[in-house]
Amino acid sequence: MLKSIGCGSLRLEHAGQTISLAGWVHRRRDHGGLVFIDLRDSTGIVQVVFHPEEAPEAFGVAERFRAEWVAQITGTVRPRPEGTANPNLGTGDVEVLASATVVLNAAKTPPFDVSQDAPVDELLRMRYRYLDLRRPFMRENLRMRHRVVKFIRDYLDERDFVEIETPILIKSTPEGARDFLVPSRIHQGSFYALPQSPQQLKQLLMVAGTDRYFQIARCFRDEDPRADRLPEFTQLDLEMAFVDRDDIIALMSDLYTELIQVIRPDKHVPLPVPHFTHQEAMARFGSDKPDIRFGLEIADFSSIVAGSEFKVFSGVVAGGGVVKGFAAPGLASIPRRQADELVELAKRHGARGLVTIALDEAAGSLDALTLDHVRTPARALSLDEIKSIATACGAAPGDLVLIVAGEEPQSSSTLGQLRLHMGERLGLADPNTIALCVISDFPLFDWNENENRWDSVHHPFTAPFDDHWERLDSDPGNMTAKAYDLAANGYELAGGSIRIHERARQESIFRTLGHSPENVEAQFGHLLEAFEYGAPPHGGFAGGIDRLVMILSDKADSIRDTIAFTKTQIGADPLFGAPSPVDQYQLDQLGLALAPRSPDPEKQ
Ligand code: AMO
Repeated sequence: MLKSIGCGSLRLEHAGQTISLAGWVHRRRDHGGLVFIDLRDSTGIVQVVFHPEEAPEAFGVAERFRAEWVAQITGTVRPRPEGTANPNLGTGDVEVLASATVVLNAAKTPPFDVSQDAPVDELLRMRYRYLDLRRPFMRENLRMRHRVVKFIRDYLDERDFVEIETPILIKSTPEGARDFLVPSRIHQGSFYALPQSPQQLKQLLMVAGTDRYFQIARCFRDEDPRADRLPEFTQLDLEMAFVDRDDIIALMSDLYTELIQVIRPDKHVPLPVPHFTHQEAMARFGSDKPDIRFGLEIADFSSIVAGSEFKVFSGVVAGGGVVKGFAAPGLASIPRRQADELVELAKRHGARGLVTIALDEAAGSLDALTLDHVRTPARALSLDEIKSIATACGAAPGDLVLIVAGEEPQSSSTLGQLRLHMGERLGLADPNTIALCVISDFPLFDWNENENRWDSVHHPFTAPFDDHWERLDSDPGNMTAKAYDLAANGYELAGGSIRIHERARQESIFRTLGHSPENVEAQFGHLLEAFEYGAPPHGGFAGGIDRLVMILSDKADSIRDTIAFTKTQIGADPLFGAPSPVDQYQLDQLGLALAPRSPDPEKQ
């Protein structure tokens, strides 16, 4: 080894020892005739002092050091002089007095300052990812990711789960996104698809008699990247046989609770983990992945305003719509311009408009409220209606009520977005809390207006409630799925379901989804056939590892900050230059010819 100890390990107990270090020059300062180096390796940073008289040769070398040079240093550990300790650094009580040093490699000036966690243009970070990963916060994120995956493996191993790898070159495994395709050379004209998840494979493992399976699985979905979504991501994928819904929900909640408590003991996880039906989550929080760290719960004013003189509200209710809203505490006197911005925000999130009611604090109490205390564009609302609205959403004088009138589910989801906006603006979400919640009872199907057919809300392998099968032909929109999600702080962490394990029933679902029998046979024949050989009842879930690490880390702004080598917002890898054209020879081997480029990416 070129070093006897890690830079970040040095403490007062090492004082007096002669040690050798190897790492990167984090910073160099020349001060009082001495050269000070912060030397960094994977364990942390320590200060090294070069003295011109005690080690003239080493001093001469150190004078040439620049940021990110690689150096080996031999020296003696000593306490820092009185008053110079650095409490922000683990090694802040000591320094190393250098006796010798060797330059292991020089470095060009990095394109950004590696010694700082300051924001850097993302393209530059990706282009020089190996430098970006040297930055302390990225190193911490990767370490945390390692610990998360290790915790999961140990936790599941103790509970008799077996980790099994499944193939990457496979056939389409639909999870609602586009497939990435890989052309076959041997079978020219045919393609593999990269797995959107190992969904069907884990179900086949259940048929194969594996009771308890998991995998840290790479998934590929050709979709546009977002802050919490990537085309290539990692799941904890899990499946169990002979279970029902509540068994999986309990395992999922316990695993995530213990994981957070171990990885971030400083965070608060409110327990027991609350469980909402999908309908309840939408009604109260306007989201199927609610941030429940704060209230601002949505109330339904439809019955209050059904007969109102304010025709916008009563008209919407008469037309089958809803009038809903919530109270933002203390915002009654928000300036006009900011109120207008809220209206714009509501429109951006799909509402036709937003009505605000400001209740002047001077009223003192709701009982004492008069129309003089009310500021609202909805002047036709009566005082009684306003008081009932305020009571329904818990508003008091001094508060601002935000109201959306329109169709469902659009109105609730707009309010859900406004609620998140207000929660952030009012600083209501405690950053030190990770609030898990389980959402279940999702509808089995969703009507797809554009394509005039039913879509699966989760995926087509999800079982409905046992007594809902009879609705399949008559009222599929009214079937509830044995599906569940785990959400935290407004993110969907994991999702799963109990599966269908009988051929005839699985076929009937495909029929309802509009697949022809030929198409079903071609796409899913293998799974249906397996169901004929004694498939046990089974179910499972999958959770995004990248997203989980992002929530656990205070230092990740996007899921890209939790992954060593990842893609930009537009799915490109500027380090390797991927995706990239290939040469004609490779295309010929695959029997492929490129069509002229389509200007519309949807049609490519
Ligand atoms: P689902 O599609 O809900 O379910 O995915 C499960 C979890 O994976 C994470 N996730 C993503 N993370 C990053 N980028 C993406 N593009 C992305 N898509 C999903 C989320 C999500 O909760 N086979 C089913 C699971 C099952 O039924 O067992 C599935 O993949 O955290």
